[in-house]
Amino acid sequence: MVSILFKAGAGDAAGWQRELSARIPDLDWRVWPDAGDPATVDFVLAFRVEPGFFAQFPNLKGVLATGAGVDGLFADKTLPTHLPIARIVDPYMTQQMVQWATYGVLHFFRRFDEYRALQNRAEWKELGSPTRHPNRVGVLGFGEIGGAIGRGLLALGFFVQGWTSTPRDLGPIDNFAGAAQLDPFLETSPFLVCSLPLTPDTKGLLNRQRLSKLPKGAVVVNLARGGHVVTDDLLALLQEGHLGGAVLDVTDPEPLPADHPLWHHPNVIITPHESGLTTPATAADQIAANVKRILAGEPVVNPVDVQRGY
Ligand code: GLV
Repeated sequence: MVSILFKAGAGDAAGWQRELSARIPDLDWRVWPDAGDPATVDFVLAFRVEPGFFAQFPNLKGVLATGAGVDGLFADKTLPTHLPIARIVDPYMTQQMVQWATYGVLHFFRRFDEYRALQNRAEWKELGSPTRHPNRVGVLGFGEIGGAIGRGLLALGFFVQGWTSTPRDLGPIDNFAGAAQLDPFLETSPFLVCSLPLTPDTKGLLNRQRLSKLPKGAVVVNLARGGHVVTDDLLALLQEGHLGGAVLDVTDPEPLPADHPLWHHPNVIITPHESGLTTPATAADQIAANVKRILAGEPVVNPVDVQRGY
């Protein structure tokens, strides 16, 4: 038997069980908090865990993330970093995120915000130019997801620039790299799409000082983690009119409390961390393959680099 303990609050436990049982015939499926004997848990399949969670399982063979971002696993200092850790890279999930980010940019770029306001007043009024924004998008973090978003926007006719922690050849997309080129990148990004991993280096990166570098009227699109943005700073810059809008799939705190002013800001669009949902049917192949690889002593697909934390 191969035991997998599933812990992903909003995840589809029944779907994972169905898809993984079809691929791992001797699966011993457990759903947190019914972990059974902790000493017999082989794998943890999880999105986010509490501090100390992993210390309970002395005989783990590997850790499998249910998502693309693994900050919710690194939040536990007892994460067994000597074991293989894998994340999800799923073209179907990536596609969802490309769609979401593209919508966020187009909403403001094609003046849907202004036309909605006119519609609310039953006012038929053509605003003239199709856009009031320059057609340039900065994608902060150009990995699997950010890269796909950048290429998608390029295909729609945007000038796209990508920021990466170290220099990369992004083909037709201008690359800005490292701390030294972050300000010039922000200064030339009237739309900023955040698709960074959340690590100690990127937490709070988008604070007042950095968000102020964006051109006046810029729109922030965040589908990474709420922790990348200092919420109070974002709100203040929206209220002061320096920022023209924000499209947020993630917030800090999350869930966003019902009385939080961000909910009611006219230029803010909020979705509840759903821009890229992991679907067991499309992601189970790589999870099952990784279970088999780990048991066979082979390297996992979509490995997490524990030094980098993503
Ligand atoms: C979702 O937030 C993920 O990291 O997959």
